[in-house]
Amino acid sequence: MRSWKSNHISSTLTLILYLITILHHEVNHSHAQTQTQNNNTGYTCSTNQSNYPCQAYAFYRATSPNFLDLASIGDLFSVSRVMISNPSNISSPSSSLVPDQPLFVPLTCGCNTINNTFGAISYANMSYIIKPNDTFFLVSTIQYQNLTTFPSVEVVNPSIVPTNISIGESVIFPIFCKCPEKNNTTQFQNMITYVVQPSDNISSIASMFGSQEQSIRDVNGNDFQVYDPVFVPVTQLPVLSQPSVVPSPPPPATATASDDDRTGTVRGLGIGLGVTGFLLILVTGFWVYREVLLKGRVWLVRDEENQKKQKNNMYMGGKEGKGNKERDLNLMANVSDCLDKYRVFGFDELLDATDGFDESCLIQGSVYKGEIDGEVYAIKKMKWNAYEELKILQKVNHGNMVKLEGFCIDEEETDCYLVYEYVENGSLYSWLHEDRKEKLNWRTRLRIAIDIANGLQYIHEHTRPRVVHKDIKSSNILLDANMRAKIANFGLAKSGMNAITMHIVGTQGYIAPEYLADGVVSTKNDVFSFGVVLLELVSGKEAIDDKGNLLWVSALRTFEVDNEQEKGRRLKEWLDKDILRETCSMESLMGVLDIAIACLNKDPSKRPSIMDIVYALCKSEYTGFDISYEGIDSPRVMAR
Ligand SMILES: *[C@@H]1O[C@H](CO)[C@@H](O)[C@H](O)[C@H]1NC(C)=O
Ligand SMILES: *[C@@H]1O[C@H](CO)[C@@H](O)[C@H](O)[C@H]1NC(C)=O
Ligand SMILES: *[C@@H]1O[C@H](CO)[C@@H](O)[C@H](O)[C@H]1NC(C)=O
Ligand SMILES: *[C@@H]1O[C@H](CO)[C@@H](O)[C@H](O)[C@H]1NC(C)=O
Repeated sequence: MRSWKSNHISSTLTLILYLITILHHEVNHSHAQTQTQNNNTGYTCSTNQSNYPCQAYAFYRATSPNFLDLASIGDLFSVSRVMISNPSNISSPSSSLVPDQPLFVPLTCGCNTINNTFGAISYANMSYIIKPNDTFFLVSTIQYQNLTTFPSVEVVNPSIVPTNISIGESVIFPIFCKCPEKNNTTQFQNMITYVVQPSDNISSIASMFGSQEQSIRDVNGNDFQVYDPVFVPVTQLPVLSQPSVVPSPPPPATATASDDDRTGTVRGLGIGLGVTGFLLILVTGFWVYREVLLKGRVWLVRDEENQKKQKNNMYMGGKEGKGNKERDLNLMANVSDCLDKYRVFGFDELLDATDGFDESCLIQGSVYKGEIDGEVYAIKKMKWNAYEELKILQKVNHGNMVKLEGFCIDEEETDCYLVYEYVENGSLYSWLHEDRKEKLNWRTRLRIAIDIANGLQYIHEHTRPRVVHKDIKSSNILLDANMRAKIANFGLAKSGMNAITMHIVGTQGYIAPEYLADGVVSTKNDVFSFGVVLLELVSGKEAIDDKGNLLWVSALRTFEVDNEQEKGRRLKEWLDKDILRETCSMESLMGVLDIAIACLNKDPSKRPSIMDIVYALCKSEYTGFDISYEGIDSPRVMAR
């Protein structure tokens, strides 16, 4: 059916698609302009207001095809499924959603100082990993449904060139929000960010959320533009009415949505082209186009359903043979939050893949290499319950983190196995400290340092609650085929901050002194360990030598000189002789050494934050190669 339509209308379609593209540009353009007038770089706030930060909510609608389950929407907003299902009156966090299903997504709304031009802006930080074909504009308008705007994304990511974003890069999308003022006579507990839809007016918005028109005007003024966010103050979050049963495919909902689109677009075209006679053909064309599009969408949905079913069957199949389902289910209940995101491997599959956990498949420690269905994985046998690591990895999804692909529970032994992506080039430790023909050059080392820092920045600043890795060391840094670094092994990681623990874990030579002494856990523990890894990169020496001497102690002693020239001389003596052979600037080496030493400050509060580190390292990368290609002995560089 689709093929005859395509044949008949393909040429018309091409034309129409072309026109849509032009029009889309025009519409976007004009919209962008009106928005600029409306200060769409964000909503200013004052940092000395005591009402920030607060918990706020965004009103979000499930959309086909990518956002029809709470897990993917949760990922988008860095919250768990339960954190959305609870305020949204959804009983089962794992149920699938229908397009346009209303949701309340919790936001941590903060007042963030940007710079002198923009002052402070209130928003919730969302870290988003760029995927193919993403632009700031598309992600703001489609994935985030205009809860933010691309100019604001540019403002909060000053270091990123919007026309040159790379896949896998992490970008902050500021979701607009406001905290209710405390001095109001009516005590508003919650503020909902809502994006005005074409069919809305202020009274419909007020009644939708059980708020008053006047309260909305008090917060937002009187100017309401379609697709602009408005902040709706409410004393209490309204109870959303949810479809009780997932209805059969959603043409009615989709049709209304695209009806609006269609009239809008057609009107636009009419004006844009100024050829009224053409209109009729176009309307017909659109109808056909829409038909095809809708069919395509329904197809997609069905396809997805089928896939889900198949997956479920697979999980069940893998388990049934083993019997003892009940215990299995108990174990599963523990990790049920993760079930839908990961593949559950059967124990037999793992046995097959690793020749029964044969030594020949051993990578390191309790990690085995195994091939399942043509894919190579790293399989880690866990001595203790993997729930913590699973819980943390579930929130962590970043290009500089080793990705968890699935897990397996062996009910007979009550063992647990985590299955990760296989990272081809092994650990940084093996590259630095084991006999290898190839050596890492300085540029690669610097890139590795930046990758690790980016990964740490992600877990320190963009996960909620924050995650402290607690075991950063060169053997936990893996290098992929392109020698890009990924952080592995979240077995000791802890979420939550500034906790005190009596149970000291970590690796000698990398542990921060305050953690060793008092058990204080904070992101600054990781900063310290990262400083040690930087020393390893510069010196090629191990964090702890055969005699038990700590690298960081000797580094602090060696470089405790004020004279820059003397420091440079000592650095040349101290650094990895493999680096000496190549062309790289002393300035870059010295920059990294300085960062390392700052990270090793005995007072955790004086260590730089990971954000400062990322910035400083990137600067070292520039000074290392783009400005100066002079050799290591170049007098200009040495004089510094
Ligand atoms: C966001 O706004 C743009 C106009 O700037 C509009 O075309 C788009 O449909 C809106 N997105 C949603 C999800 O409503
Ligand atoms: C784009 O980014 C890449 C790496 O992020 C960089 O190498 C390249 O020079 C950039 N291009 C422009 C035009 O800024
Ligand atoms: C609350 O305080 C702000 C300044 O802090 C002021 O602008 C606003 O008018 C006050 N609102 C009420 C209702 O008193
Ligand atoms: C939740 O949604 C259901 C289904 O629409 C509705 O019947 C119910 O009244 C809603 N409210 C509560 C508090 O459950």
